[in-house]
Amino acid sequence: MCRSPTSNSKQPIKGGKKASIVWSSLIEHIIKVTLYSAFLIHAIQSTKRSTKIFSYVVNICISLISLMLIKSELILLIQRIQRKLPPGYLGFPIIRDIKFILTTTSGGIQQSLDYARNNYGTMFSQTFFGQTNIAMGGQDDLLWLFNNDRKALTEIAWPPNIVMLLGPGAVANQTGKYHRVLRRLLEPYFAPLFVTNYLKCMDDTTLHELHDWSSCGEYQSSEVFKMYALRLFYVSSFGRADEDVIATLHDDFKTWIGGFMAVTVKRIKGTAFDEAMKARDRILDTVDNLIDTFIKENPEESERAQTTIIGRLIYGKDKDNNRMMTRDEMKDNILNLIFAGHDTTYASISTLLYHLSENPEAMEALAEEVSTLKEPLDSDELKNAPVLNACIHESWRMDPPVLGSFRKVADKDVHHKRYTFDKGTTFNYSILMATTDESLYKNHDQFNMKRFLPTDHPLYDPQVDSNIDPLAGRTNYPIFGGGTHVCLGKAFAQLELRVLAARMFKHYQVEVRNPKKSFFPVNGWNVEFKLTKRKDV
Ligand code: HEM
Repeated sequence: MCRSPTSNSKQPIKGGKKASIVWSSLIEHIIKVTLYSAFLIHAIQSTKRSTKIFSYVVNICISLISLMLIKSELILLIQRIQRKLPPGYLGFPIIRDIKFILTTTSGGIQQSLDYARNNYGTMFSQTFFGQTNIAMGGQDDLLWLFNNDRKALTEIAWPPNIVMLLGPGAVANQTGKYHRVLRRLLEPYFAPLFVTNYLKCMDDTTLHELHDWSSCGEYQSSEVFKMYALRLFYVSSFGRADEDVIATLHDDFKTWIGGFMAVTVKRIKGTAFDEAMKARDRILDTVDNLIDTFIKENPEESERAQTTIIGRLIYGKDKDNNRMMTRDEMKDNILNLIFAGHDTTYASISTLLYHLSENPEAMEALAEEVSTLKEPLDSDELKNAPVLNACIHESWRMDPPVLGSFRKVADKDVHHKRYTFDKGTTFNYSILMATTDESLYKNHDQFNMKRFLPTDHPLYDPQVDSNIDPLAGRTNYPIFGGGTHVCLGKAFAQLELRVLAARMFKHYQVEVRNPKKSFFPVNGWNVEFKLTKRKDV
């Protein structure tokens, strides 16, 4: 039995506190309107007194900016009064943006989330780069949002820089009917049973890499997992490893991902965003050549054309037997798939190593369990290995690689918790809020893989049993998101992690040092690790 989806992370906010929260949110706007009005009055008076053209122009500019700020604060104030905007401190322009960048890069995300959750509950207003959105992460909030997705009441709302970096054809950018058709085309090739077809090539690639990492006898940076993740996807998709192409893609993706924190989508020469868009063009050229080669080597009726993800993207047809995708759409989708599985997989591996190194009993139990796995690896045995899966799930819970995503209200107003959200209102759903929900996960800030052990396991501990099935894809474990945009590569990612962890701990003693937390572009830990071949292997 899983917990009720309506449980909330904190005690419900009491009546008196609720009223003071509402008032403090209103007072924020009243203070700002008063302050901006003072600027406006001062600037108007100074304009009148100006004798120099420069000070005249400056004061006119200050007046106009003050007017704009007053207008936007009044709109927000009215939205609060009309219950269109939940409580939440929005802060002063520029100061709040600097604070946001500092919070994201310096690791204050959990604290700022805890602060907001304690003060406002699991649904609150926040601002990124001048855009107000509504954060939500309670079980009832996520359930509501993901159901809205399915009813087409909400749709994807990536920030504009991410929309441009992914490209107009990418599945993650689609909405409505075309998104459904695209998902229907791709889902069978990412289904849990289907991805087991990739087990052999994943395992071969993994054994090879582990040998390379161990043979130098030194500590290595977890950065090597980036190339590994790319190679795994590449080999699974194209059937072989073209080292030069993989290295080029790796470098270009590094630059490409630099565009994720862009404050403007203007292509200003030399900025990280401009460089990222240039990297995007290079990636698309590489992918274009890969498609040509694939078509040449694998005609439509060939086995690889029928049974691989890339084959599906290239030759997939809709129900009227028309080709699904133009060449540009194919390229955007291949880029989307490579990106989606690249840094997330990398972060998952290094984070798992970090948590295991901090919890030696869990590492020992894992090594003991995987030592008995039969050869060749069997996907069912991997799926049912209790400690292996419990460690992976607990590591993902502690540090979800993707912290959340965005949705916006589609055409009709929607209602939740006595609020009304107009068309275009943006939501930022928080995976981290769910995985740090104390009512779901007791002592949530402590790694404890026993939460996910089955009741018949000798290490099972009823005191910490979370009673949650991480594979069920519910809102109590939303590592792979939810709704219509739920992760396409979920089963692929789970298999990758199982194979890597099984092979690594079956054959090697693992030492880890120098852990460093990273929050961007994915959440997790960077480490250095050293592999020593086990004597008994
Ligand atoms: C641990 C690894 C991974 C994590 C934590 C993860 C997480 C997520 C999350 C949270 C979303 C939902 C975003 C949203 O709600 O808008 C998502 C979407 C997606 N993921 Fe993953 N992902 C992982 C690995 C992969 C892999 C390996 C692939 C492909 C090979 C993949 C392909 C995708 C795609 C294509 C989407 C967009 C789906 C759509 O918009 O319809 N992911 N992922």
